Amino acid sequence: MGTFERIVILTGAGLSAESGLGTFRDEDGLWTKYDLADVATPEGFARNPALVQDFYNQRRRGAAAASPNAGHAALARLEKEYPGDVLTVTQNIDPLHEAAGTERLIHMHGELLQALCALCGDRHRWTEDITAELACPACAEIGGLRPDVVWFGEMPYHMERIYAALAACDLFVSIGTSGTVYPAAGFVAEARQAGAHTVELNLEPSDGVSMFHEVIHGPATEVVPAYVERLLSG
Ligand code: APR
Repeated sequence: MGTFERIVILTGAGLSAESGLGTFRDEDGLWTKYDLADVATPEGFARNPALVQDFYNQRRRGAAAASPNAGHAALARLEKEYPGDVLTVTQNIDPLHEAAGTERLIHMHGELLQALCALCGDRHRWTEDITAELACPACAEIGGLRPDVVWFGEMPYHMERIYAALAACDLFVSIGTSGTVYPAAGFVAEARQAGAHTVELNLEPSDGVSMFHEVIHGPATEVVPAYVERLLSG
């Protein structure tokens, strides 16, 4: 195991699966219960805001009640103990990485525990339900609050910072993601372009599995701690 200087970790819903939060595309995934066009697009929100608010209110309550698992804990340990630079980029909107202690974290799809006012653009930490009757704490307007999450057709957050990190990394580890949604699904190609070693840790082969130099399949609570142990024992 060579010593890497700059590690970029990408995580997806599979990392939070063993914390009891649903994934999207597994057999019982969220997209088998909801049409994503109805609950994860600006058009869906415009058509039926109450349905969308309820979808995220339910997920916010679930995320607030969930605990980080051994996979999240191992990634927080890696950031703390690894002698090189570690950046975690997550597609997840739950707060489990922070709850486990990860600090250098980018939520590229936004966060359940944050509200965005569509009228004034202000963002606020938000742990309660969001409804159309609530006023924005900043502009006091009613009806503008929405979950601060990135819907299909919207631009993911912090992309410049992410691409700069991918261009400079020498190890890229993709964890618990199906590799089906861009731009995240393209990160492994960016990392390979930069000459990085690329690793997939996932329950089963992702759509992008052939792009990885190394693949280890199994549940995140097993394969992530084991891989972190390998990195830390040099
Ligand atoms: N351990 C490791 N991996 C797991 C586990 C587990 N316990 N359970 C499921 N997985 C894997 C599945 O095999 C699958 O490859 O996690 C992946 C989950 O894939 P998706 O449900 O597609 O979730 P994700 O890749 O995060 O979706 C990306 O799509 O809907 C949008 O914005 C949403 O951020 C999300 C994006």
